[in-house]
Amino acid sequence: MGEPISLSFNDRYFYKQNGLAESSYVFIKGNNLKERWKKLTKDESFTIGELGFGCGLNFLNTLKKWKALQKEAKLNFVSIERFPLTALDLEKSLINYPDLKNEIKTLLKVYPPLSRGFHRINFEQENISLTLIFEDVHRGLSDLTKSDVTFDAWFLDGFSPKENPEMWSSQVLKNISSLSHNQTSLSSFSASSMIKKSLEENNFEIRLTKGYKNKRHMIRANNKSSATKPEFNRKKIAVIGAGISGACLANSLAKRGHAVTVFEKDNTGIDIPCFVGNPNLSHANTPYARFLLASFLFFSSHYSKQCPNSWNETGVIVLKNEEKNYCKLNEICKKLNDNEIVSKVDSTILKSFDLNNSGIDGLYFPKTGYLNTQSAINELLELNNISLIQEEVIKINNSDKDQKELISNKTKYYFDEVCLCNSFGANDLINLNGVNKKRGQITEVKKPKRIIKLPICGRGYISPYTDTSLVIGSSYSNDGLEQPRDEDDQENTEKIKAMLNLDLEKIKSYVSFRSTTKDHLPLLGYKEGLIINIGHGSKGSVSAPLCAEIISDVIDNNPLPIDKTLYEALNPNRFNY
Ligand SMILES: Cc1cc2nc3c(=O)[nH]c(=O)nc-3n(C[C@H](O)[C@H](O)[C@H](O)COP(=O)(O)OP(=O)(O)OC[C@H]3O[C@@H](n4cnc5c(N)ncnc54)[C@H](O)[C@@H]3O)c2cc1C
Ligand SMILES: C[S@@+](CC[C@H](N)C(=O)[O-])C[C@H]1O[C@@H](n2cnc3c(N)ncnc32)[C@H](O)[C@@H]1O
Repeated sequence: MGEPISLSFNDRYFYKQNGLAESSYVFIKGNNLKERWKKLTKDESFTIGELGFGCGLNFLNTLKKWKALQKEAKLNFVSIERFPLTALDLEKSLINYPDLKNEIKTLLKVYPPLSRGFHRINFEQENISLTLIFEDVHRGLSDLTKSDVTFDAWFLDGFSPKENPEMWSSQVLKNISSLSHNQTSLSSFSASSMIKKSLEENNFEIRLTKGYKNKRHMIRANNKSSATKPEFNRKKIAVIGAGISGACLANSLAKRGHAVTVFEKDNTGIDIPCFVGNPNLSHANTPYARFLLASFLFFSSHYSKQCPNSWNETGVIVLKNEEKNYCKLNEICKKLNDNEIVSKVDSTILKSFDLNNSGIDGLYFPKTGYLNTQSAINELLELNNISLIQEEVIKINNSDKDQKELISNKTKYYFDEVCLCNSFGANDLINLNGVNKKRGQITEVKKPKRIIKLPICGRGYISPYTDTSLVIGSSYSNDGLEQPRDEDDQENTEKIKAMLNLDLEKIKSYVSFRSTTKDHLPLLGYKEGLIINIGHGSKGSVSAPLCAEIISDVIDNNPLPIDKTLYEALNPNRFNY
């Protein structure tokens, strides 16, 4: 045990006795990381790219060394892996490394399902962001957004070039070179002549050095690119709108050191008191399906960390009697094959929610729940470098590339970046196509006798809310009526009656408007020098955290948590063409 071997590649992941020491020698020392990390200033980022995540030994070793330095800078670790191991195999293979016990435990808690594509995991305390790309190396590298992403160091760790030439091909090294700048380093345990030649052809200057222990040589190299590493600039950023998308973005930017001002025209931004993290997923490999899955896998841990007092990770049940949605979810259930993400409702689950004899059948998604909306927004905005201004933004002059002038109903301000998170209100400030307004109403009802401890979704949904009430929802229409309508409350109540045979007594109704797009994806990214983050439709609580992460990475020139094609699919200009 503890010396994992790949039968397909006829090679070891690492040596049992000295895997950790070799990782430190070849990759940490090989890239001179400790010395370079010491020079980082507060909030600056350093990015490592790895080919072959394997058992995560290099990552865990990097995590430990980074932690020991206690830097206030940020470390991005991006690793591409075509054949990801299960959490159990990973744990077994690292059994001989008690020194990494804490790091292994930290990783196992958040290790993602093995579905293809990008997985972003943030280690808040350590200031590390891990992006696991479960793809073939060629696809993974070309899925990275090139424009401003620059890697500082590369760990080349795909099995031996003889057994696995694909991982070391000239095209791979060319892609790596194009993601590098003039201080980027690289190291590899292998010093084969084929790799040396390829590296030289692709703009790397090689220093052949002594290999680990009895290995003769290893490769250390530096990129000869003329590109320089983009500087980290602490920016003054305006966020317009204190709904869930604005609050998540303000929080994420402030955590990275930017000075954020949030403008909200209303007294309390939010009309809907409680959001359910409804698992709306699809097994297809379209940008939309990838967006749903990536958002869903990211949002819950984000709220647990950023607004723990407002997030209730109860899990959510999706009922079987809503056939269409159930079949779709069943497909993704098979694809994910991970009980931590979704499982069939069984007697143990029903018992744990006091739902025995309820006749409920369906799927259980443990890593979701419901959010107390206004308190979440308050919690997200409670950071020293966020100021909330209750003013309406009426105009933005962005003709000056560096400074945007923002005019509110009271005065003028100047910012480096302006982010529009004000839903369909964005149309009054910039000419946007493709956003529609859809009315909806939810109903707060008295708690019935039957206990409902978690949201249950079918054609409608019911969710815990206060100690004495629940919310049910929601209606969907095209009209603009701002007052509640009795018929909508009735529709909500009838849906729950049909789903759960519950008779409910209304307390209060809430009306709000969703901003939707034709392809159901939000509008996200730059348009005319402004940042757009709108169009979250019926699932803003699930999509807002990932969108905040994407925009923050774009502003900081960090690797994105999603693939390039998906980022392009979110382009806010797409309905203008
Ligand atoms: C009935 C109903 C039920 C819903 N239930 C759920 C649910 O259970 N789960 C879920 O995830 N989603 C749900 N949604 C969807 C959810 O409400 C949206 O996805 C979410 O609110 C979008 O958030 P946002 O921050 O983008 O926009 P908004 O919440 O609309 O926030 C935009 C903010 O910008 C402010 N603003 C606008 N213009 C300006 C300006 N010029 N200056 C300053 N401020 C400005 C507005 O006052 C507002 O506060 C529901 C929607 C409806 C209608
Ligand atoms: C030596 S192991 C990596 C060990 C790892 N860095 C660690 O610290 O545990 C090589 C890894 O490369 C992966 N790999 C092999 N061919 C690949 C390819 N074409 N694309 C992406 N990953 C690949 C293997 O699945 C394996 O996990």
